[in-house]
Amino acid sequence: MSRQITVIPGDGIGPEIAQAMMEVLDAMKIGLSFEVVNAGLETFEATGELLPEAVHRSIRKNKIAIKGPTTTPIGSGHKSINVQLRQQYELYANIRPIKLIPGIPSRYIDLGDRMDMVIFRENTEDLYAGLEHTIVPGVVETLKIITAKASERISQLAFEYARHRGRKKVTVAHKANIMKLSDGLFIASSRKIAKKFPEIEYEELIIDNCCMQIVVRPAHFDIILLSNFYGDIISDLCAGLVGGLGVTPGANIGKKISIFEAVHGSAPDITGLGKANPTALILSAAMMLRHLKLDTEAFRLREAIADVISKGDFLTVDLGGSATTGEFTREVIKRLALSKGKRPAAKKSAAKKPAAKKPAAKKPAAKKPAAKKPAAKKPAAKKPAAKKPASKKVGASKGLKAAVKPRRKAAAKR
Ligand code: NAI
Repeated sequence: MSRQITVIPGDGIGPEIAQAMMEVLDAMKIGLSFEVVNAGLETFEATGELLPEAVHRSIRKNKIAIKGPTTTPIGSGHKSINVQLRQQYELYANIRPIKLIPGIPSRYIDLGDRMDMVIFRENTEDLYAGLEHTIVPGVVETLKIITAKASERISQLAFEYARHRGRKKVTVAHKANIMKLSDGLFIASSRKIAKKFPEIEYEELIIDNCCMQIVVRPAHFDIILLSNFYGDIISDLCAGLVGGLGVTPGANIGKKISIFEAVHGSAPDITGLGKANPTALILSAAMMLRHLKLDTEAFRLREAIADVISKGDFLTVDLGGSATTGEFTREVIKRLALSKGKRPAAKKSAAKKPAAKKPAAKKPAAKKPAAKKPAAKKPAAKKPAAKKPASKKVGASKGLKAAVKPRRKAAAKR
């Protein structure tokens, strides 16, 4: 098989982890080649274009892309590239598996395989529709768009996935007790789809209670179905349960095009220091392999990562070790060489953990005050932009070294 993949390295640590990911896939010798095209804040500063046409051409041609993080200015400036890509290519489902890898420091490590959930986040609308305006100075309005079409589409995919992968339960989290129309429509849509899958347990939880339940008893959850905004927040919350952003992969799935990316951002605080953990992007590549129906190779890649992490000698700084991005990557490649020829059972067993007792009310109408704490602000990106060309085709093994100039070290260390 020969297959070309679009690679968008992105900003900050993006080029470092994208390089690592390509080296690992190269070492697997499974006939993948990479077309590297650049987008993001650094590309904008170098070329005046945030998302150049060359990126779109490559995505439309290859249909499959893997993307590093891109920096989005906070409070002003350009619209997020991720949001643009998701809306433009109708990447309607964001899928994020949450699993413990033995050896990763986590408060929940004792749960082992019982921590095994998958987040399905609607990816195209909700508060991310980008419809904001000032009504009068001092008063702004943001529109939350929820449609039956998008809500049913993501619900359908979540239930199909549950059926296909032998999962037992779909939990929908919402705030329909307050947003009776918008979140009400989301759960009405998921209830409608749930009826077509009687063998899958269907559960509804109010989002704030859901957050508490996830922290207190994560093993209760199997598939969590969420609208866009809640999905964004819950994804990071769940990443924290299994060792942090450096190890959590993701996929943006559309009908024709899919883009794989890690959950984390451009990490300006560690850019250029060799501290970036490439695990999340490599595991995103494993999801991509599975999407390409290369199940055995996906399994082999996940096993190699798990082996290196559980052995513990080459952990990156975020996981409590001192290995650089390059050292960790080389170790994964060594493990892959050892596992060559092994043909593990790639399919997950249909016998998933039994659903635990339900933690809370099934119905949305709970009596709770509306006022909630405001969302915490993310720190602003500090990293100065490195100059790089907007796009460049390179061979797989040459990778990013050929496509981007060396990065400047971030002034601030963590
Ligand atoms: P972040 O995910 O970049 O960083 C949060 C913390 O996690 C930092 O301390 C960072 O060093 C650490 N971290 C993240 N990924 C890591 C990795 N692979 N290895 C080791 N440590 C890692 O989140 P932050 O700081 O809120 O956002 C920075 C920028 O990234 C912002 O401009 C934001 O908009 C953008 N962003 C982009 C995303 C994307 O393109 N998919 C997703 C999330 C944020």
